[in-house]
Amino acid sequence: MNNCIIVTGGAGFIGSNFVNAWVKGGLGQVVNLDKLTYAGNLANLAAIEHNPQHIFVHGDIADSAKMDDLLKQHQPCAIVNFAAESHVDRSIHAPGEFIQTNIVGTFNLLESARAYWNDLGDEYKDKFRFLHVSTDEVYGTLTATEPAFTETHAYQPNSPYSASKAASDHLVRAYYHTYKFPVLTTNCSNNYGPYHFPEKLIPLVIHNALAGKPLPIYGNGQQIRDWLYVEDHCSAIRRVLEAGTVGEVYNIGGWNEKANLDVVHTLCDILDKEKPKQSGSYRDQITFVTDRPGHDARYAIDASKIERELGWKPAETFETGILKTVKWYLAHQAWVQNVTSGEYKNWVNTNYQERGEELA
Ligand code: NAD
Ligand code: DAU
Repeated sequence: MNNCIIVTGGAGFIGSNFVNAWVKGGLGQVVNLDKLTYAGNLANLAAIEHNPQHIFVHGDIADSAKMDDLLKQHQPCAIVNFAAESHVDRSIHAPGEFIQTNIVGTFNLLESARAYWNDLGDEYKDKFRFLHVSTDEVYGTLTATEPAFTETHAYQPNSPYSASKAASDHLVRAYYHTYKFPVLTTNCSNNYGPYHFPEKLIPLVIHNALAGKPLPIYGNGQQIRDWLYVEDHCSAIRRVLEAGTVGEVYNIGGWNEKANLDVVHTLCDILDKEKPKQSGSYRDQITFVTDRPGHDARYAIDASKIERELGWKPAETFETGILKTVKWYLAHQAWVQNVTSGEYKNWVNTNYQERGEELA
């Protein structure tokens, strides 16, 4: 077994932040397997393109033969599984890919990884880890007064996306209990930061604001999400990989509950300062549109277990993280232009025309 790790989905938003930080931090070699769906962009990895510590492999986690070969060839000490279909609205329009990648893909990956692990010597068997990156959405929704999700909260997923992630979490759990396969699972709240694809609320609003387009708020905008700066999610994953107890689940969050409308107001106010319009405020572009079907009212993560047991805490507050994020988008407009060409326009048409808005 080598010191290298395999990361899946490392060309996406969180995965690319994780891989960039791992390689730039000198933490060892990363073999980065990604299918390069619409959400995967090699541009996210441009800074480490020629770094020998980063090996990019184009492939699908559901492709067992490819995964078996990759494991045999690189002999990793860990797999970190980010690969997934991740957008709730897309899962409502077309759930099939979510079942295929998030459930079948995770199952095939688990099977390949278990076969590889079975053949390791005892010392290496003890050291190997399979870390599955999951979401707070598997716990369902909270009322305004219910306590935040702990690791023992019942699974009550409400969208095809969260149901598919819940199924993958259950498989991961079962592989530990049945085979003693050394898994770790993390369930994180909403991330934001660099390389966030502009189909999700925060980057979409920044992009549309600068383009002079409507800022679409689903329903009344009072739904609550618990926001975490992406680099804090990555540092938490590193900490769980290093010191987490095998078979355990760790919730990751930033204690930053915000209503969507407040988030959008904050973004408009920062943009008003950083890139003022000729007249008026970006807030003038806010438009209320038809709500998301089955829209979860509130997510909130109780992150006390990871803090207590592993000493992890986020470094950013929402205020510092969101300012960095807006500045990153202002400084990386070429990246935004690159990822919003082609397929992106089709999605924007599909999602917003039926909500009564023309955004493309
Ligand atoms: P993303 O959609 O930005 O990236 C997903 C990546 O996976 C893309 O690079 C895509 O090409 C790749 N991929 C998709 N299907 C694949 C397959 N079959 N084989 C190999 N690669 C494949 O997603 P993200 O926001 O970076 O999320 C990463 C992970 O973190 C997901 O598992 C998601 O459920 C989880 N998560 C996300 C958030 C969030 O706020 N974004 C919060 C908690 C957990
Ligand atoms: O909670 C973690 C989850 O966060 C991750 O597991 C998902 O992969 C990730 O996509 C994210 O899911 P959300 O559905 O919370 O994120 P999204 O950015 O799509 O939406 C955030 C909130 O903003 C949600 O309440 C819906 C609302 N929204 C979203 C869009 C795209 C709008 O009001 N308008 C929009 O145009």
